[in-house]
Amino acid sequence: MSGEGLTVRGLRVTFDGFTAVDGVDLDIRPGDLRFLIGPNGAGKTTLVDAVTGLVRASGSVRFGGEELLGRPVHRIARLGIGRTFQTATVFEELTVLQNLDIAAGAGRGPLTMLRRRKGVPEEVTRALETTGLTALRDRPAGVLAHGQKQWLEIGMLLVKDVRLLLLDEPVAGMSHDEREATGRLLRRISEDRTVVVIEHDMDFMRSFAHSVSVLHAGKVLSEGSVTEVQADARVQEVYLGRASEPEPAAVPVTEEA
Ligand SMILES: Nc1ncnc2c1ncn2[C@@H]1O[C@H](COP(=O)(O)OP(=O)(O)OP(=O)(O)O)[C@@H](O)[C@H]1O
Ligand SMILES: [Mg+2]
Repeated sequence: MSGEGLTVRGLRVTFDGFTAVDGVDLDIRPGDLRFLIGPNGAGKTTLVDAVTGLVRASGSVRFGGEELLGRPVHRIARLGIGRTFQTATVFEELTVLQNLDIAAGAGRGPLTMLRRRKGVPEEVTRALETTGLTALRDRPAGVLAHGQKQWLEIGMLLVKDVRLLLLDEPVAGMSHDEREATGRLLRRISEDRTVVVIEHDMDFMRSFAHSVSVLHAGKVLSEGSVTEVQADARVQEVYLGRASEPEPAAVPVTEEA
């Protein structure tokens, strides 16, 4: 099973006359691990907000043959689409297991919930294993390291059997080792799901991206493999150049694109 792809056409989001997402097209295949990069304010989070129904948008967003635009947030979630936010949103006083249990039970009937009391549901056990949190299952989420909280959040999407994961800066603030572990986790979960990662960390992107879309001023500036995107002069000008290798100060910034 390889999951479903995401198709975005002419996506546009406007806030009081300001266009934050300006006609974006994206084709993200099942099994892809797509990185969405771009400078601050490029429209990355707004794009994810539009896909998940948090902001109004025009154009088209299709996943698994269903049009998402115009549907309420909970209906989009029920189609197997889940996201994380730039700040973690776990229940700090509850244990890792309880957090996963609640996520697994969300949206299910009371009978299913009752049956679950008897033991740890299989999808929770699997999510603990996938995220490497099995040994920490009885710890309150609040005492977890920063990286572990992010993994728990990803686990909370996995127990819901999310088919499309949209992760907003999952490795921000992580140590080198936590980043590597997160990259390997994303690789594993993208094998049979579609994964979109917003990220500022270029080393992380180079190590783990299957494909990359560069957003700039609400538009897709460049798209392709890591190598292709890095070789794109326009990308170097707006983003990569400044982040990785210093560009000569005399290079003019073009107005196009
Ligand atoms: N609710 C809102 N109302 C008005 N403007 C907004 C709103 N949300 C975002 N914007 C604006 O839209 C633009 C895109 O913001 P967005 O948060 O999508 O950028 P981003 O690419 O995620 O940036 P960052 O890398 O800093 O997270 C910015 O100029 C931002 O100020
Ligand atoms: Mg953002």
